[in-house]
Amino acid sequence: MIETGEQGQVNFLLENNARHVWHPMIDPKKSAQNPPVIFTASDGVEVSDIHGNSYLDCTASLWNVNVGHNRPEIKQAIIDQLDKLVYYNTFGNASNPPSIKLSALLAEMLAEEEMVKTVFSSGGSDAVEGALKIARQYWKLVGKPEKSKFFSLKNAYHGVHFGGLSVGGGLPWRRAFEPALPGCFHIDNPYLYRNPWTQHAEELGAICAANLAREIEHQGPDTVAAFIAEPVQGAGGMIVPPANFWPLVRAVCDKYDILLIADEVVTGFGRTGTLFGSRHWGVKPDIMCLAKGINSGYVPLGATMVNKRIEAAWEKDDPMAPLMHGYTYSGHPLACAAALANLAIVLDEDLPANAGAVGAYFLEQLDGLRRHDSVGDVRGVGLMLAIEFVKDRQTKEPYPPFDPYLMAVQKACMEQGVWVRIQANKMIFSPPLVFTRDHVDRAVAAVDAALAKAG
Ligand SMILES: Cc1ncc(COP(=O)(O)O)c(C=O)c1O
Repeated sequence: MIETGEQGQVNFLLENNARHVWHPMIDPKKSAQNPPVIFTASDGVEVSDIHGNSYLDCTASLWNVNVGHNRPEIKQAIIDQLDKLVYYNTFGNASNPPSIKLSALLAEMLAEEEMVKTVFSSGGSDAVEGALKIARQYWKLVGKPEKSKFFSLKNAYHGVHFGGLSVGGGLPWRRAFEPALPGCFHIDNPYLYRNPWTQHAEELGAICAANLAREIEHQGPDTVAAFIAEPVQGAGGMIVPPANFWPLVRAVCDKYDILLIADEVVTGFGRTGTLFGSRHWGVKPDIMCLAKGINSGYVPLGATMVNKRIEAAWEKDDPMAPLMHGYTYSGHPLACAAALANLAIVLDEDLPANAGAVGAYFLEQLDGLRRHDSVGDVRGVGLMLAIEFVKDRQTKEPYPPFDPYLMAVQKACMEQGVWVRIQANKMIFSPPLVFTRDHVDRAVAAVDAALAKAG
């Protein structure tokens, strides 16, 4: 760690960051003009930077440090594992104890959904890639190889690999890399604040599910492998679907014999107030993508899980049966050991319940910020919340990304020691699940003052 105040070191880092680091999700010119905050330490819900500033972490880094920073239980589990087996792979006939124990724990946590098998990966994009490939392989194994197309939602974010960006619904994440994978189709998402149909939530849920059915019919259900979606859309704008949407989607998938993939990379392990986001909607997916909260980011890890129906397709002998997918770091012992310690905290401290209760309070407090003219919408569930900023409430004209107004609001929050994330025209709140009402009060007071200052 670079100690605060060592000016030479600080300058070295700033200069070399500008010279050599390309940051994800930003035009390099923009990060050169607006240098990143270089974090050097973190503890609980606080993070601090090379200049010695500290911030309340309202984003849990990237929605992933769910149990908070610097937890001794997780650090100790990693150290204990370092003393035993630092790393061995899980390809073919190799395995290691932490990955086995974690797969058993995940199956136990997801018994309700009948999830039985896990393919480990190194993160969320990998987990999505695994899910899409397994869905296609499944249909080949059950003798329906023509079922290969994917449906997903506009505004979805499913990571950055070619499969994930092809089913991803946001043009900015796709455009520079197109052409995307053929056979991927996007339907309108149930975005209550912005849609051409209705302001009635359940009606919107029904319209969007009916659109999915209609588009599947249009493509031919015998050509469609799976529908993939986030239980609550995160990076695409924190869009909470109406309560009827997911159950209707499950019914559409059942009607047309299409697999349902839940991308739970953000919603998994408590963020929405239930242990898994699809459980929030009372729906059982066939395949689940997990990452982030699986070990709160202490060591990179992701997982794709499949239910009994999918597993059964692998029972027969078939030249197509080998699972030709996996990563050098699938089931990394350190990552899995961290996950075991992390999930023990999630369960022991009942963090899903805390996320639900503190999240409800957070939403209520954010709602009070509607008195500022630029606040077009406030929404969220559990500890996944957002403010959507607009230039004009009547027309709902959004602020463009990196608009000086949005940057000024973010800067004013930081000056008050509160770290928030601006994504397009939204301010995203995804704090550690150990957040308390006091933390919420601190965050909302800072945003309130920042909005007042930015005018
Ligand atoms: C829903 C969802 N899926 C997939 C991903 C990709 O995960 P990763 O960045 O770990 O590759 C993310 C990342 O934010 C996500 O929000």
